[in-house]
Amino acid sequence: MDGRQMSEQQFDLILSGGDVIDGTNRPPVRADVGVLGDRIVAVGDLSAATAAVRRDVSGHIVAPGFIDSHTHDDTLLLRKREMAPKVSQGVTTVVTGNCGISLAPLNLQPGMAPPAPLTLLDTGGDYRFGSFGAYLDALRATPPAVNAACMVGHSTLRAAVMGDLDRGATSAEVAAMRALTEEAMRSGAIGLSTGTFYPTAAHASTDEIIEVCRPLTEHNGIYATHMRDEGDKIVEALEETFLIGRALDVPVVISHHKVMGANNFGRSTETLAIIEKAMAEQDVSLDAYPYIAGSTMLKKDRTLLAAKTVITWCKPFPELAGRDLDEVAKERGTTKWDIIESLQPAGAIYFMMDEADVQRILAFPQTMIGSDGLPHDERPHPRLWGTFPRVLGHYAQGQQLFPLETAVWKMTGLTAAKFGLADRGVVRAGAYADLVVFDPKEIADAATFDHPTEPARGIEVVFVNGTAVWDNNAPTGAFPGQVLHREAA
Ligand code: ZN
Ligand code: CU
Repeated sequence: MDGRQMSEQQFDLILSGGDVIDGTNRPPVRADVGVLGDRIVAVGDLSAATAAVRRDVSGHIVAPGFIDSHTHDDTLLLRKREMAPKVSQGVTTVVTGNCGISLAPLNLQPGMAPPAPLTLLDTGGDYRFGSFGAYLDALRATPPAVNAACMVGHSTLRAAVMGDLDRGATSAEVAAMRALTEEAMRSGAIGLSTGTFYPTAAHASTDEIIEVCRPLTEHNGIYATHMRDEGDKIVEALEETFLIGRALDVPVVISHHKVMGANNFGRSTETLAIIEKAMAEQDVSLDAYPYIAGSTMLKKDRTLLAAKTVITWCKPFPELAGRDLDEVAKERGTTKWDIIESLQPAGAIYFMMDEADVQRILAFPQTMIGSDGLPHDERPHPRLWGTFPRVLGHYAQGQQLFPLETAVWKMTGLTAAKFGLADRGVVRAGAYADLVVFDPKEIADAATFDHPTEPARGIEVVFVNGTAVWDNNAPTGAFPGQVLHREAA
């Protein structure tokens, strides 16, 4: 028993009278939750116990803080440390460095500007780190409101090493990238991501990726990927992902799983069967966001697949943010194909998925929830502010896609297990006190495509490592976030 428990109060905080959804896919149980320091120390009837703060949360759900399995928050964690888009939804941990892009290490060759899609991370500013360790040190020195589990991005390594990215890497360049992967893993990265869909990595061969990723095997790293193709050639892309996982003997994460383009609608039946079969043979995870529209840089091939394209930001014409690409083209007396070039650099939202596929993928038992939010966009996709309450409110309780406890599990216990985040994602004695209290009748996403930065409804209070970070519908100004490490399964 440590000294603190000998003091007058048994707990720093008791959340009393709530219904606990513990993050293991079990239904809610009426229980009090006692917190001391950064840990949950008791779950049960604590009516006779004493606490510095006792908060009545009856009528509310007490759940583990949500883990956003797919983010691009690398820079936001330093620049806007209160992390309002995330803590307002109940998110207490973010996984960064997805889609092949991480903020570090970004030692660019002289005269080279960060290429798109690295620019999605707001690389234009003052945050430049020569090593992955330096980035993690900065997070520890000026901590954010949430915890961060950080991956290094393959496209970032290519930009740091290669100069011209429109080609495969030479063996010397592969060796240089491998050394940077090694440095990142030794410093505390949880793994590496690729984004072979993007021009920065489209020319990387399967062999290049395997060789750059070699250090993952020894350091127990995870491999996450925005695959080469999420449309017509998605099966080939899945096979490549599984092959890389087997060659390295590491877990793989299929990022933001979807099937794009009207001619592929319905094919999630096929892809999920393939994923399920692979899961029987190797460690495979997947995540998804709860929308039929995607968002990334403005690209011609994406526009081709989309029924509708909306501009999210545009460097040469900032006033176009929020505008429909077809309408802009019409006003200018031309077609969208002809103006895309003149709008660069730019970002867009693409309506290109089938609702039935989105629901089938969300309902697949092993699918984790990841927002893929783009925090620096002028008019961001609403997934940045709405993903988690949308799954809890709209998809679990509205569409009845799965019970509320399953929705919570997909954003807590499942994710913590897949990413190897020990003592996170569960409400039990001994776990870290990452907690969200929400009203199950109120919980809903408020961000829409027209009003994309509206905070969600129904989130009462959010704690990270025992400290409140969101309360009374606002950030508290506390920064208790930690850099998390991956532990072996
Ligand atoms: Zn992606
Ligand atoms: Cu992403």
